[in-house]
Amino acid sequence: MRVYSGIQPTGRKHLGNYLGAIRHFVTGQEDASAAGDDAIFCVVDLHATTVAYDPAELRDRTYDTIALLLAAGIDPERSILYRQGDVPEVPELTWLLTAVTAHGDLNRMHQFKEKSGQQRELVSAGLFLYPVLMAADVLAFRADRVPVGDDQRQHVELMRDIALRFNARFGGAAPDGTGGTEILTVPEGIYPTSGARIMDLQAPEKKMSTSSSTPEGALYLLDEPKAMEKKFKRAVTDSENPPVLRRGPEKAGVSNLIDILAAASDRTPDEVEASLVDARGYGDLKAATADAVITLLAPVQERYAALREDEAAIEAALAIGAEKARAIARPVVADVREAMGVGPRA
Ligand code: TYM
Repeated sequence: MRVYSGIQPTGRKHLGNYLGAIRHFVTGQEDASAAGDDAIFCVVDLHATTVAYDPAELRDRTYDTIALLLAAGIDPERSILYRQGDVPEVPELTWLLTAVTAHGDLNRMHQFKEKSGQQRELVSAGLFLYPVLMAADVLAFRADRVPVGDDQRQHVELMRDIALRFNARFGGAAPDGTGGTEILTVPEGIYPTSGARIMDLQAPEKKMSTSSSTPEGALYLLDEPKAMEKKFKRAVTDSENPPVLRRGPEKAGVSNLIDILAAASDRTPDEVEASLVDARGYGDLKAATADAVITLLAPVQERYAALREDEAAIEAALAIGAEKARAIARPVVADVREAMGVGPRA
């Protein structure tokens, strides 16, 4: 049971990234090693070049993100942690997979529509091909499980379709994946039950993201505890009187806080609601949520600074990660080339 996930080195990582993905990377690491298989995590610097960016900053943001994954508990001795640009088999596979990717499917991707609308100077072909590169990330390792947040569902569905179409076209499998040779593994998306879609604290109808509406809308993982408290205190709720501490339609702000509190304290949203029956108002919910999040993130914050300082150690870990990653990806890409009739006969 091989686990794979990736994260972009753009901007400051926020609570959505942590509750939706990063903490589940750590559980994925445990699950994969219990099953005697690899957990593989990638900081996707090539994906970061698909929108306007500053080359002088990309490397630093990559170090930031690697240090954060290490601080969160990814252990490069047990998992494979690598930088996407260090593994040239992946962009090669991206090109090969374009042969079985429908242009119409790429055109329908929500993220492409959203991000292409935000670009001022250039909508790059890279932005359009982004989901194929993401499919290649996972398929190059024949991964079984991909822990991600809810916003990646469409991308995961597409990579499944690409794998199925590849096996049908070049491995003689039926369109549903039966029969023939399974050249590529069809991966499964793994989504958390709570925290799969953390919303903006100021605009709770929008997901929390690095480009949040206001600086108060996103809770950054390296925010000081005082700043976190303040952001929760100011979080948008609703004006029901008396206050209703339950999830519900028209209650995006309260539902989001309950979801965050559930995820951060390892309870279900129902359990959290039950624990709030004696609460006096939204202030209690906000204070409990702030407490749980601050406690959850304290050890990550504590470890981060020392790890981030030592860039030589980060590069050394990445060199080992790249080598291990390439050792897995190389024969997979060779199988793909062979099946497609590219290059000399194997
Ligand atoms: P990225 O870098 O935008 O986000 C990293 C992870 O964080 C999750 N996430 C959220 N979860 C809950 N609530 C939110 N508000 C929230 N915002 C982000 C994302 O779902 C993601 O799991 N395309 C990917 C990176 C990628 C990748 C891959 C992932 C590249 N190749 C291969 C898996 C497998 C991305 O942009 O994630």
